[in-house]
Amino acid sequence: MTDKRTGANDNSFHAPGTASAGSSMIRRLRLISGLVMLTYVTMHLLNHAVGLISLKAMEDVLWYVFRIWTNRPAQLLLYSSFLVHYALALYALWQRRTLRLHASEMSQILFGFAIPLLLVRHVVVTRISDSFFRTDIGYYAYLLWVYFVRSPEQGVVQMLVLVVAWGHAMIGLHFWLRVRPWYARLQSAALVGAVLVPVLSLLGAIEAGRQVSTLAADPNWIHERITLPSPDTQRTLDAITDVLSWFFVGMVGAVLLARVARRIWQRRHGLVRIGYPDGRIVEVTPGTSVLEASRLAGIPHASVCGGRGRCSTCRIRVRGEIHSIDPPAEDEMRVLHRIGATPNVRLACQLRPRGAVEVTPLLPPFARAADGRHRVDLAQGREQEIAILFVDIRGFTALCEGRLPYDVVFVLNRYFAAIGLAVESAGGRVDKFIGDGVMALFGIERGAHTGCREALAAARLISARLDELNASLGGELDRPLRIGIGIHCGPAIVGEMGYGNAASITAIGDAVNTASRLESLTKNFACELVVSDETVSRAGLDLSGSPLHEIEIRGKREMLAVRIVERAAELPAAGAVPIRRIELVDA
Ligand code: FES
Repeated sequence: MTDKRTGANDNSFHAPGTASAGSSMIRRLRLISGLVMLTYVTMHLLNHAVGLISLKAMEDVLWYVFRIWTNRPAQLLLYSSFLVHYALALYALWQRRTLRLHASEMSQILFGFAIPLLLVRHVVVTRISDSFFRTDIGYYAYLLWVYFVRSPEQGVVQMLVLVVAWGHAMIGLHFWLRVRPWYARLQSAALVGAVLVPVLSLLGAIEAGRQVSTLAADPNWIHERITLPSPDTQRTLDAITDVLSWFFVGMVGAVLLARVARRIWQRRHGLVRIGYPDGRIVEVTPGTSVLEASRLAGIPHASVCGGRGRCSTCRIRVRGEIHSIDPPAEDEMRVLHRIGATPNVRLACQLRPRGAVEVTPLLPPFARAADGRHRVDLAQGREQEIAILFVDIRGFTALCEGRLPYDVVFVLNRYFAAIGLAVESAGGRVDKFIGDGVMALFGIERGAHTGCREALAAARLISARLDELNASLGGELDRPLRIGIGIHCGPAIVGEMGYGNAASITAIGDAVNTASRLESLTKNFACELVVSDETVSRAGLDLSGSPLHEIEIRGKREMLAVRIVERAAELPAAGAVPIRRIELVDA
């Protein structure tokens, strides 16, 4: 089928590209090699921290760390990880069309390229001299003597590289994990760990360095513990350090020069035009991603994961000729599939148009990681069949009379927690709290039939939890809390509505109004639940024992059949609804 707006057929923008396996492999290799080095660095830093106990303990632990990292397979893994990670960093630098980046992204790049330069002398003096010149100086005493007694300026460089390497790793880790739903909960603890490790490591190294400085006051100690490389060996080691330092500087310089040459060449061979909704046209060299184009032009554009194709916050709607848009790579495809993207939706950080296109960013520039998890169709709004549940406290005004505001808030929060847990345990989504009422939606992701089963399961749980709440509040209330629940199903418009931080996925429509009306009718029928018969049959529940009534619904010609349930807790279990166990953490 042809999409009239894009001029492309439905599959054209989303058919996997041939380059997909390559970019997916690159991303995986970068992650794995980074994690290998992070493991090594973390063990190394924790080993430094043992210096807070003593120099001897530090060297004892080092013996075990050495045993792990000096066996052949581990060495091969570590060195090849470094080479792969470094080569991919150079490639990423080449790939970028702009260096206009967020501060965190820029810091990660600068830190990354600074590490080999700052570390090269340390590696030559320890690993290369040990492996090729048999100098046997790899233990802490020698290095701490060099860094704290003989050449403190080298000690400062080592402290700096510790902070820079750790900072580079933590920024990378943060970009990798920040799109995971659980990360926000662990972020504070992770931050504490990320700060503690280098701080303890620095303190350990300083304390051990202080001990070595004291020991070095005795010339015999130096004579016994320190084996200096011969002058010839030292000269060779210095020469190797110089060559490697220039090599690293030369590699980055070569890539930067190649970028300039590419830019000049591409400018001579035509630019790509990218149009934005406000009429702005940005001209960029071919190969520039839409996100880079936005940054080059100073157009605010959300990019929570820093352009790594994970968060989907940079998503755009694209219009253009089919030949100007390459199909998405495998990783992009996976993200697009996850958010239910339509064929003309792409990730701005991954799309590098080859001809003129028009793009519309779909999320605001200040979008957060959680916004990236919303499906495209939900964010835009869609009509679908869902089940809606309303619950309200009976006689709430009387309950509040003569009570301190503190008491009212306390009781209400306990009640809201009980309802919220019941809804979520049954698989629904609390839509909103309205005064003392709650609106909940079911079946947005899993369809109306499942939604009906979940809504009835939620009603049963709500009633049961209310009994528990009444038992625990016994002394606080003159009479137990009583509630009314209304449930109906039908077509509703579901989408993200609201403004700013108050925007959320909600539903509107006749079915929602009817569910609300059924909740009000619980007063007339003096019961706990009024549920439409259609909801009951879609849930596959047998409520033939409950009275059936036909009611009039404002604005509708047909009557609506409803079941009257005196106690929702006594509803039969709705089949195949797995009740998730959610604990009340803060009552
Ligand atoms: S910036 Fe995260 S997916 Fe594009």
